[in-house]
Amino acid sequence: MALLELANLEVVYHGVVRVLSGVSLTVAPGEIVALLGPNGAGKTTTLRAITGLLDLHEGKITKGDVRFRGESLAGMHPPAIVGRGVSQVMEGRRILGELTVEENLRAGAHRASRAEIKRDLERWYTRFPVLGERRGRPAGYLSGGEQQMLAIARALMSHPELLLLDEPSLGLAPKIVADVGALVREINTDGTGVLLVEQNAAMALSLCHRGYVMEGGQIVLDGTAEALREDDDVREFYLGLGGGEADARSYREVKHYRRRKRWLS
Ligand SMILES: Nc1ncnc2c1ncn2[C@@H]1O[C@H](COP(=O)(O)OP(=O)(O)O)[C@@H](O)[C@H]1O
Ligand SMILES: [Mg+2]
Repeated sequence: MALLELANLEVVYHGVVRVLSGVSLTVAPGEIVALLGPNGAGKTTTLRAITGLLDLHEGKITKGDVRFRGESLAGMHPPAIVGRGVSQVMEGRRILGELTVEENLRAGAHRASRAEIKRDLERWYTRFPVLGERRGRPAGYLSGGEQQMLAIARALMSHPELLLLDEPSLGLAPKIVADVGALVREINTDGTGVLLVEQNAAMALSLCHRGYVMEGGQIVLDGTAEALREDDDVREFYLGLGGGEADARSYREVKHYRRRKRWLS
């Protein structure tokens, strides 16, 4: 059974604006799945539909379903969804800057015993000594990369079976992006499933087992990481390799351009 299954999902904001239509995707237990696509494609909306955060943004699932281990999450409150084993790192890090590093980590622990929380804290302080050294200081003083590690560690304090990451590489230096990648791999080695939303296709495709490309609220392509890395259009538009239709702004446009070229020639 799939860990996560989105079936024919449609999401509407403010009762009128449809931003997702017919979105279906799965994450198997222990799998890293990438969700790629340009700005405005609907990636963050997809994650909100999973974590129950659409309400906050006046959004609603109008068709389809979100199932976790076969059970529908639709209509469930965000804390209940975390309790089921789904944890998210939101876009833009979202650490609590005025709280200390340790308070941030504790905020991520979900109904764990004191001893377990203590063990988890020690684990993260060992893994990232800088978090240990600064455990009593406001998290806002950490560097961007350190804040991202803290945000991921915080999400892992609830021991999720599925971790959702929304553009974890955004705004980080290449060295830090590599560190984030290594951490994702490490988490996955423990059996945690990962849905990795990224505009950085090179990073995501170097990590994931499978991926989906989203444009205009629809899945336009999916495949294994290898198949996507070798897809001409993904190479051209998302990986910036190859030449030719560099003016095209999307996967769809490239496809359209190609078809027209074939037709004209
Ligand atoms: N609260 C909202 N109300 C109305 N439209 C929204 C809201 N949030 C996002 N959108 C729109 O939905 C579309 C998808 O946005 P989003 O899911 O954030 O895309 P992505 O994460 O891929 O950049 C965009 O056109 C965006 O403007
Ligand atoms: Mg987004």
